[in-house]
Amino acid sequence: MSVSEIRKQFPILSRTVYGKPLVYLDNAATAQRPLAVTDLAGKLALEENANIHRAVHHLAARATEAYEGARDAVKEFLNAASREEIVFTSGATAAINLVAFSFGEAFVGEGDEIIVSTAEHHSNIVPWQMLCQRKKAVLKVLDIRENGALMVETLEKLISRRTKIVCISHISNVLGLINPVKEIVAKCHAAGVPVLVDGAQGIVHCPVDVQALDCDFYVFSGHKLYAATGTGVLYGKKKWLDAMPPYMGGGEMIASVSFSGTTYAPLPEKFEAGTQHFNGIPTLVPAMEVARAMREDPDVQKEQETILEYVYSKFMADERILLYGTDRQAKIPLFSFAVKGAHHEDLALILDKMGIALRSGQMCAEPLMDRLGVTGLLRASFAPYNTLEEAEYFIKSLDKAINMLV
Ligand SMILES: Cc1ncc(COP(=O)(O)O)c(C=O)c1O
Repeated sequence: MSVSEIRKQFPILSRTVYGKPLVYLDNAATAQRPLAVTDLAGKLALEENANIHRAVHHLAARATEAYEGARDAVKEFLNAASREEIVFTSGATAAINLVAFSFGEAFVGEGDEIIVSTAEHHSNIVPWQMLCQRKKAVLKVLDIRENGALMVETLEKLISRRTKIVCISHISNVLGLINPVKEIVAKCHAAGVPVLVDGAQGIVHCPVDVQALDCDFYVFSGHKLYAATGTGVLYGKKKWLDAMPPYMGGGEMIASVSFSGTTYAPLPEKFEAGTQHFNGIPTLVPAMEVARAMREDPDVQKEQETILEYVYSKFMADERILLYGTDRQAKIPLFSFAVKGAHHEDLALILDKMGIALRSGQMCAEPLMDRLGVTGLLRASFAPYNTLEEAEYFIKSLDKAINMLV
């Protein structure tokens, strides 16, 4: 498959903005959707719309099949040990909140400790802070090096007998570095501590095998992986999910309800209270197929590598630019940077007029911005459907924009 063939599956990529071809480099915020996803979402809404699990009629059976089929597909995609370990949520944030609440209820008490890293998205900080407030527990922070790499060698010192869970991103949405999660999990497990991996970015760029990683929880959002928004996945080892109380109460998460006492459904329904996003969840299936096809295609991978090397070397050679996350071995084509003497918002606005969609600001990682000593950054995040030509246009346009301001 060539990248140009892939692009045909994503019609939005051939639109223009302000009369210029769209160059979409905000993929870490949300990815674009292929036709296979939008066609399925349309078909489910227009031809097979019915609530799942409840009724016996034909449409309900079809909708349930599509929803539960997605669970089987996600189980395969992550190589989970069983389909009971796959819980559908509305996204990575919802999945982390679920674990923070339920795991916290079962296992965290006063004086216990939770470890996150400096480089986490707010979604992998705030739910843990809220838990710590509720339980009078302590949040500890694993720091990063100058090149953005996690200081994994300090983890053992940070872990104590009170540590209940370590929560780490697979790839930071700001630094664009693949963290050594397998090594982190091994270190934590050696100390008897479970690990939650925030895979919101990792699932897009890395093949994920949760059994090989041996992580206890892995979460991601569908919309960053080309699926419908409002979809997400929590993978959890059965032993933990079984031991955790439900997060929300409501329809379908129960075995039996009475005023003398309620019992809960087995996994995974125990964690899926209320009506689920049954028109959206099945779009994970074509989305994962597209993701896998792009990841396994040598031409697409070669173009990604070329883009990574091209932009990385341009940024490292340009004295006006400060790139954050420079550990080249661990780098993915996600570049957060500052330009000396120019405000990130001004540059983003100028580049927008040139057709280039970038992210600017704190990127939901205020503690990391503080750690880096910046108030905000610009971020260009590439997807496998981006071309080298787009990367070249981006670098040329950025140079023009900088010259206008500095
Ligand atoms: C690393 C990381 N974690 C969590 C999230 C939250 O994802 P969502 O807003 O889809 O729940 C994001 C979104 O940018 C992210 O990049």
